[in-house]
Amino acid sequence: MDGNNTKEKIDNLIYSYTPDMSGLVEENRFLRETLENVKKELDKFKKTPLLLCELKEIMQDKAVVRLQNGNEFLVEISSEAKDLKPGDTVLSEQKNLTVIKKVTPTKSFNVEKFVILEKPKITWDEIGGLDQQEQEIKEVIELPLLKPELFKKVGIQPPKGILLHGPPGTGKTLLAKAVAASTHSSFIEIVGSELVQKFIGEGAKLVREVFELAREKAPSIIFIDEIDALASVRIEIGTSGEREVQRTFMQLLAEIDGFKSLDNVKIIGCTNRKDILDPAMIRPGRLDRLIFVDNPNDEGRKEIFKIHSRNMKLDRKVKIDDIVKKTKGFSGAEIKAVCTEAGYFAIRENRTKILARDFDRAVQKVLEQKEVQDQGNPAMFG
Ligand SMILES: Nc1ncnc2c1ncn2[C@@H]1O[C@H](COP(=O)(O)OP(=O)(O)OP(=O)(O)O)[C@@H](O)[C@H]1O
Ligand SMILES: [Mg+2]
Repeated sequence: MDGNNTKEKIDNLIYSYTPDMSGLVEENRFLRETLENVKKELDKFKKTPLLLCELKEIMQDKAVVRLQNGNEFLVEISSEAKDLKPGDTVLSEQKNLTVIKKVTPTKSFNVEKFVILEKPKITWDEIGGLDQQEQEIKEVIELPLLKPELFKKVGIQPPKGILLHGPPGTGKTLLAKAVAASTHSSFIEIVGSELVQKFIGEGAKLVREVFELAREKAPSIIFIDEIDALASVRIEIGTSGEREVQRTFMQLLAEIDGFKSLDNVKIIGCTNRKDILDPAMIRPGRLDRLIFVDNPNDEGRKEIFKIHSRNMKLDRKVKIDDIVKKTKGFSGAEIKAVCTEAGYFAIRENRTKILARDFDRAVQKVLEQKEVQDQGNPAMFG
């Protein structure tokens, strides 16, 4: 093949090539669209945010709005904002707080979506080693719910609520559920730390609606787990987040103060940190019965062990007293874990009968996990 011939062929190819303009037009259109979209996106970033405020009052053509930090301002109302009522949540423009529009009607907030509402089935005999605590809960929660007339006759007012405190995994939640079951009450559970983290700006409202729900579903027990997250002493209230927690807490106190002790609603607070709790929470007339739930003693551990091994096939050589001795300082939850682990050791060796050595290994395993956890958080219970 000679060189000239090849060059001619290439030239021919070049000259015969007519670019496909339709493709370029298409591409151009695509790029323009992308540019438009990016511009729109950018504009979104540049817009100043609107503020969520509470409408306190309407005065002719002006309104008083309250910001989440508690400050109140007299502001203009935009002509677009219609049907405003005090109590509405509104969007205000950031610079001069002019009310732009109403957000959702406040009532659309469906509290049942945010709390756990159930009818527990825990019975007293599923709880081991807490006879004294059970006794006290029966007196202050169960009896007034089941026999309010007795209290009227005697002329005393039972406590509105109790505070269960003590180390983790000792049966506090169990006790609360058991009393809800024995009184056929609705059990409404809220968790302090969730109220603080998930419902920013809505905590106080949620508390209000939880109490309303409790009255609706009465008899009911409002169970507030990790109540310390709401009701801890704060040295100084600096950030708006802390002020928000404070508002939620105030609302909780107001709700507790606002109902009567024989209203068929009882409150059970729960905490591992009684030491940091605000004394306002446990003042007379509020959660004024403190019930300490400690790690079980030998007798208690034996009972709990029996409860959790009830449905297990134990070898004759398994000595409960032996396990009880080896599990000093274990919580109820840890004893349950020992039983579960022992079961796993049997399963791994294709057995359904649990041997003494399964329990020994299980105790060892839970002990190791416990040590890791204890290093993580030094004891602060009580
Ligand atoms: N006294 C007990 N008797 C029987 N089981 C128990 C007991 N204490 C704990 N358990 C077992 O441990 C599990 C966890 O207990 P529970 O949730 O009541 O602990 P808690 O005190 O509420 O802990 P926390 O403070 O961490 O919330 C229970 O579901 C139960 O299986
Ligand atoms: Mg609990």
